[in-house]
Amino acid sequence: MSFPQHRPRRLRSTPAIRRLTAENRLSPAELVLPAFIREGLTEPVPISSMPGVVQHSSATLKRAAAEAAGLGIGGIMLFGIPAHRDATGSAGIDPDGVLNRAIADVRSEVGDALVIMSDVCLDEFTDHGHCGVLADDGAVDNDATLELYAQMAVAQANAGAHVLGPSGMMDGQVGVIRSALDDAGHQEISVLAYAAKYASAFYGPFREAVDSQLTGDRRTYQMDAANRREALHEVQLDLEEGADMVMVKPAMSYLDIVADVAAMSPVPVAAYQISGEYAMIEAAAANGWIDRRRSIEESVLGIKRAGAQIILTYWATELATWLKESK
Ligand code: PBG
Repeated sequence: MSFPQHRPRRLRSTPAIRRLTAENRLSPAELVLPAFIREGLTEPVPISSMPGVVQHSSATLKRAAAEAAGLGIGGIMLFGIPAHRDATGSAGIDPDGVLNRAIADVRSEVGDALVIMSDVCLDEFTDHGHCGVLADDGAVDNDATLELYAQMAVAQANAGAHVLGPSGMMDGQVGVIRSALDDAGHQEISVLAYAAKYASAFYGPFREAVDSQLTGDRRTYQMDAANRREALHEVQLDLEEGADMVMVKPAMSYLDIVADVAAMSPVPVAAYQISGEYAMIEAAAANGWIDRRRSIEESVLGIKRAGAQIILTYWATELATWLKESK
């Protein structure tokens, strides 16, 4: 009988040796908390498909941002839900619109202690729910949308965002936003490009979170789940247009894309663990089918192991609390 010469199990024998030899560990600094603010709320409203996540009032958003900053979380990504929508999403550009006001509020609450990021996209603000304006034939008009993104980006920068996250998957969006920012004197504001964003069924709960008006889908502008090579093309284009960071979204069903992008990107790579990923784990845990905390930690660690340097997750605050406790 021959016994193995190599015994990897030695390095698994105690918690201390596992900790010593771990190849990856999470830290609050790399986490970004996505947060929703809804116009006119005096109390936060729970999002039923995302237990534990709310549409914030302005007061609770500020509190959540302060808490995140106190825990050493890296950033916050803001999404706004307006009281009134129209065909061109004008509330997204209005300096007094819900998102721009929230950016200013959060900035005055936490200053530079947290990287304040905002969603540059029209879908929360249009009455048809698409990420851009529609042409006469009902298709999303790429170039007309770019002009609005440029205005929206400048408004968000004026409001105090540090990083802008264009998520609409219009061709040329990063370049147009970069030059609009530069022309407005915002050379220091960064662009986190949603470079490889797929048309995903897992965005379902987000649609509830923002009261989306969308009836169809986004397959004419977001990427097809079948495609891998195309993600690198999208990233390449965004880099040429001046992206400061690039993002892959969703995360868990696209870890091959995260790894591919991490292998080629000269700039930081982010991944967004989206609403449906959150909802699946919460639902299974609520049924007692999986261990909630271990599943959350494993899911986020997996995204990091794949190569993401920045992770957007709705569990950012809770994870940071656990990381602090285990120190
Ligand atoms: C578009 C946007 C979406 C998400 C982030 N930005 C929705 C979509 O593309 O349909 C989804 C995030 C999530 O599901 O958690 N503004």
